Amino acid sequence: MNCSVLLSLMLILVQLWLCSPHMQNHSTQNTDRTFTAVRRVKRGWVWEPLFATEEQTSMVPVYIGQLKSDLDKQDGNLKYLLTGEGAGSIFIIDENNGKIYVTQKLDREKKAFYTLRAQAIKRSTQLPVEPESEFVIKVRDVNDHEPQFLDGPYVATVPEMSPEGTSVTQVTATDGDDPSYGNSARLLYSLIQGQPYFSVEPKTGVIRMASQMDRETKDQYLVIIQAKDMVGQTGAFSATTTVTINLSDINDNPPKFQQRLYYMNVSEEAPVGTTIGKVFAEDSDIGENAAMNYFIEGDSSDIFDIITDNKTQEGIILLKKRVDYEIKRRYSIEAKVVNRYIDERFLEEGPFEDKTIVKINVEDADEPPVFTLENYVMEIAEGAMGGSLVGVVTARDPDDDDCPVRYSIVHDMHLKRLFSINEHNGTIITTKPLDREIASWHNITVTATETKNPEKISEANVYIQVLDVNDHAPEFPKYYETFVCENAVSGQITQLEFSQQKVASGGKSSFLSTCQS
Ligand SMILES: *[C@@H]1O[C@H](CO)[C@@H](O)[C@H](O)[C@H]1NC(C)=O
Ligand SMILES: *[C@@H]1O[C@H](CO)[C@@H](O)[C@H](O)[C@H]1NC(C)=O
Repeated sequence: MNCSVLLSLMLILVQLWLCSPHMQNHSTQNTDRTFTAVRRVKRGWVWEPLFATEEQTSMVPVYIGQLKSDLDKQDGNLKYLLTGEGAGSIFIIDENNGKIYVTQKLDREKKAFYTLRAQAIKRSTQLPVEPESEFVIKVRDVNDHEPQFLDGPYVATVPEMSPEGTSVTQVTATDGDDPSYGNSARLLYSLIQGQPYFSVEPKTGVIRMASQMDRETKDQYLVIIQAKDMVGQTGAFSATTTVTINLSDINDNPPKFQQRLYYMNVSEEAPVGTTIGKVFAEDSDIGENAAMNYFIEGDSSDIFDIITDNKTQEGIILLKKRVDYEIKRRYSIEAKVVNRYIDERFLEEGPFEDKTIVKINVEDADEPPVFTLENYVMEIAEGAMGGSLVGVVTARDPDDDDCPVRYSIVHDMHLKRLFSINEHNGTIITTKPLDREIASWHNITVTATETKNPEKISEANVYIQVLDVNDHAPEFPKYYETFVCENAVSGQITQLEFSQQKVASGGKSSFLSTCQS
């Protein structure tokens, strides 16, 4: 073999090598791969992993590492070249020895690594002694970012009386530094304000109840959480956020009457349905948890009623049946209030109800006189002379002072005055003889008036029947039937009402009376 053959063979070998698939493999290699991978592929290149620390300012270029070919005999025959991102500006290389320097301040959070290519060229031939190789310079993180609460300030709600340890909410801070390197992005949470009611989990930022709290004592808390990077060590940056924690209501308070005893008055004249007064029970809960119903307990509930005013939460006491001062002057009722919605968890602490006493005083009213009957039925024989007794009506003042009364007849202007009444004793007499054939009935109205108060006046109807005395030729014998009701009691006649039925006609009449007790 001669020299030229040898030379051309070597050239072919070099070309083959340059075009070899692992070369292409390398150039398309993901730059995220570590340097160990690069080193394994390129046996000819020798270098350590390259790092440049961010945020460094220096007047002179800072050495970060060296590229070296193992073919370099250190005789000055090799020349190192650097191309790619930042080559010649951010990164410079000493072409004689392959030492790389950084010339500018770097910011990892802007660019975390630079991809560059290295070449080693033989000065004499200008041919590469090593295939061009790609490598990266990683920017090493320093703690130049403070944590930030991006979602703060926070607002959270938790039911009052929640047990210790109940999770309220979670706060999260972020840190721009490299989470995979060092502690710059490793955060620790702590509670600046909110003890001893709340706690925060140092690593997760979960806020928990540290004690049981009563909304009725305080319903809102302001908690301040701090996040520190560098796991809280010296040199750490920190940030704080506020968490407003509201306690929501649960039904943990029973209603309570404002008074143990209420006094009310009702006039004996008050009609059914009259509002007598109001009772009120306080409930420190809110909304549905304070909703309540009122009841009346005991015997008086047939006279008084209580209803619940849903707007004001008051119990309104109403008159269900009229009262009479002359019969009963004082009532005592027991009112009860019960929460409408009960939380079973609190039942063992006692019933969610309360009771109070309401004393109701009946007030006397000046009542008008009362007739012994509403309707009187009387008889007078036809033709009886003027001044004859027809009957007696009686009325009395029901009030305690038993005021004397005066009687009178309500006269129809168009009718002749056939009757008069004694104003003191209610005795009705005729003023002239009556003719049954003209009118068989005279229905009049009498009044009784209090002497002290003429406005207190009442009325009764008096039905006066004119009895036939047979002043015409008889057609039928007169028929009388007298009887006593079997349930009539002596002196009770005024309590009877009669219904009269005509049983014969033809100018003469007679009547059957029936008892109605
Ligand atoms: C009512 O008074 C009159 C006149 O004083 C008297 O004649 C009459 O007998 C009295 N009637 C009664 C029922 O007392
Ligand atoms: C008077 O009352 C009687 C009995 O209720 C009745 O039959 C009669 O028609 C009445 N007379 C007048 C004029 O109202």
